Amino acid sequence: MGTIDPAFIQSLEQRPDLHLPTVAGGVPLIDLSLSGGGRTLEQLASEVGDACRTWGFFQVINHGVPSELRARLEAAAKEFYDLPVEEKRKVKRDEVNPMGYHDSEHTKNVRDWKEVFDFVVKDPTLIPASPDPDEKELRELINQWPQQPRGFRDVCEEYAREVEKLAYRLLELISISLGLPPDRFHGYFNEQQTTFMRLNHYPPCPDPTLALGVGPHKDGGALTVLAQDSVGGLQVRRTSDGKWIPIEPVPGAYIINLGNCMQVWTNDAYISAEHRAVVNTQKERFSIPFFFFPGHHVFVSPLDDLTDDRNPPRYQPFKWGTFFATRNRSDYKKLQVENIQI
Ligand code: SIN
Ligand code: FE2
Repeated sequence: MGTIDPAFIQSLEQRPDLHLPTVAGGVPLIDLSLSGGGRTLEQLASEVGDACRTWGFFQVINHGVPSELRARLEAAAKEFYDLPVEEKRKVKRDEVNPMGYHDSEHTKNVRDWKEVFDFVVKDPTLIPASPDPDEKELRELINQWPQQPRGFRDVCEEYAREVEKLAYRLLELISISLGLPPDRFHGYFNEQQTTFMRLNHYPPCPDPTLALGVGPHKDGGALTVLAQDSVGGLQVRRTSDGKWIPIEPVPGAYIINLGNCMQVWTNDAYISAEHRAVVNTQKERFSIPFFFFPGHHVFVSPLDDLTDDRNPPRYQPFKWGTFFATRNRSDYKKLQVENIQI
C-alpha cells in the first residue's frame, strides 16, 4: 500500500470494506425490449416500478442507444484523459466557466479519487434569464471543448441526444408504473431542462482502503443514466439494511438511478438511493453519467395525483434552479432533500 494525500482520506466510518461478499440478487436487470411479445407495456412498467420502490436503482438492456456510439465516446474519453495534464487544464473549470475539466472534485469535503469533464447537454442560451433574486447566483452555463481528441465535441453531443431519448422513455415507464399518463413529467423537461453530462476517470489508487472514487451521495435530479465500464466499483446502499451492494458491470447495459426530484414527486414512494464508487490499485476506471435535470424554473413538490389526506405531502415545494445553485448552503438545508452531489 502506498501513501496518499490526506485530502483524499475518508473518515473511519466511510472507509470502504473491499472484501464485500458477493450478494445474490442485487439490483434488477430489466430488458426494455417489448418485441417477442413476452410482456405488455404495463408489465414492463411494473418491473421498473418495483425496482424504483425497492432499490432506486436498476440496470437496463435493449435500451436503444447504439453500442457503436457508446464505444466511440468511451474511446474519446480515454484519449482525452491520456493527454498531459497541462493540455487538459486548457479547458479547466473555474469561477467563470463551471463546465469543463477538473482534477479535483469533492464529496462532502473529502477529495474524490478522480478527474472529471462536464458539459451541458441543452443549449445554455435556452435557459431564460430570471429576475428572481434567489437566482442571482446562477451563472451562465458555458461549455468548454478541448482541441483534442478530434471530434470530441461531436461524439459527446451525438451520444447525449441518444441517451436523452432513453431518459424520456424511462420517465414514461416510471409514469405508467405510478398509474399516471406516460407524459406526466415531460413538461418539467422539454427545452428548458438543465441536463448535463460528465465523463469520469478514476485512476488506480495506491490505497483504496482509505479513499473513494466518489464518496457516498444521492443524485439531485430526476434520474441518472450511467454507463460504467467493465472494471466495476459502483455500490448502492441498500435501504432495507444499510449494506453497500456492488453493482456488477453488465456489458452494454446502462445503470439507472433515481434522484431526489423523483423521490419528492412520488412523495417517497420511489427512492433516491445513496451510492459511492470504490477504486482499486490496478485498473483505471471510466464511467459516464447523464444527469437528467428539470428546468431551472420548475417547482418540485409531491404530485397532487399521488397525495391525499391519508398520504399528505412530505416536502415543501422548491424551485429546482435555486435549490441546485444553493444546495451546499446551510440555509437551504431546511429542504428535506439532503446529501446532494452531482
Ligand atoms: C457517481 O455517482 O457520481 C458516479 C458513479 C460511478 O462512477 O459509477
Ligand atoms: Fe451519483
